[in-house]
Amino acid sequence: MKSALLQNYLRYPVEFVEGKGSKLYDKSGRKYLDFLSGIAVTGFGHQHKEITDAVNIQLNKLWHVSNLFVATPQEELAAKLTISTGLNSVFFCNSGTEANEAAIKFARKWGKDRKTIIAANGGFHGRTLGSLSATGQRNLWSGFTPMLSGFTFVDFNNLEQIKSSIDENTCAIMIEPIQGESGVIVPSDNYLTELRNICDENNLLLILDEIQTGIGRTGKLFAHQFCNIIPDILTSAKGLANGLPLGATICSEKVSDVIKPGDHGSTFGGNPIAVAAANKVIDLLTDSQLDSIKTNGRLIKELISDIDTTLIISVRGKGLMIGIEFSKPIAKIIANALLNKGVVVGNSGDTVLRLLPPFIISKNDIHNFVKIFTSVLAKVSFSNRSTDIVNIN
Ligand SMILES: Cc1ncc(COP(=O)(O)O)c(C=O)c1O
Repeated sequence: MKSALLQNYLRYPVEFVEGKGSKLYDKSGRKYLDFLSGIAVTGFGHQHKEITDAVNIQLNKLWHVSNLFVATPQEELAAKLTISTGLNSVFFCNSGTEANEAAIKFARKWGKDRKTIIAANGGFHGRTLGSLSATGQRNLWSGFTPMLSGFTFVDFNNLEQIKSSIDENTCAIMIEPIQGESGVIVPSDNYLTELRNICDENNLLLILDEIQTGIGRTGKLFAHQFCNIIPDILTSAKGLANGLPLGATICSEKVSDVIKPGDHGSTFGGNPIAVAAANKVIDLLTDSQLDSIKTNGRLIKELISDIDTTLIISVRGKGLMIGIEFSKPIAKIIANALLNKGVVVGNSGDTVLRLLPPFIISKNDIHNFVKIFTSVLAKVSFSNRSTDIVNIN
């Protein structure tokens, strides 16, 4: 039967109908190991008891009343997010791209006459027009131009380019602490700290897009907390409500001060059910949970680095956000082969495999993954010594 869905996604021919912990089950009951977490979303896995209970309680009480009324659970979540980041106030929305749309608007309002935002080549901030205009991947603009004006692009991890791009129109720098979609690109240790200094010296806002790196993924609540800096605007989504749609734009005092009633809004933003899940998610991200994310991330990287193969040229990332770069364009083929073996992973382009396992992953799951991954790599062969014709037998 012809699909009635818009064909904007390339879908794997597998349908998952149930999940439990780090496992997914397809229609035939086949079990898969989830090393993708719905692209860095279901950090606490599937059917997590405490999150499900919190959602069920809210589900049976009240679904929606709009943002015209007082919302104590939103207040509680906002307090948790501001206290843990040193920021001042939160706008809730439903997705990552919306969180960034708000960030762009807030920065423009704060900047008054200065409207230009510096963003990074290879960066990804979402698919709506504002966020897409801030996304430094020209291929994603194709067919949708003109983009919004007011964005300047520099190379990621290049401080000199940023400094020389600042002019009298610049109001902010918008950056991911680790570029996720373009292949888990980790900048130098001093990058964010230097960005903070540059922003302070030039009276610019530092906007950190932690939609993928946040909510524990890297082993800190937010990745910038490895550097002891505080951004002016911090965006979050993905893992925030463990799979329910919720985004957050977390603002410093000086940004909060310029936003007035009516400046921005969302019908569904901060929906009580998603907020109930998020309140539980934040409570569950204890220091010991964050430590185990770091330890398990290190273990995965060590075990993969130990694999005897010339196909892997780099294993990188922080916590449970890991990229494996291949010497050849085999990432999609490897992801497919792993899926056939019952393991779900992602890829960034042709050369990087992305691992985003849930935080509740066990050592056993990790060893199983490495065993299956090693066996898949061992079967890769190239026809006619070509770089791009590959077989996995
Ligand atoms: C860093 C970053 N920003 C923004 C987004 C967009 O989030 P959403 O798909 O929820 O709109 C993503 C999604 O992959 C992301 O990784």
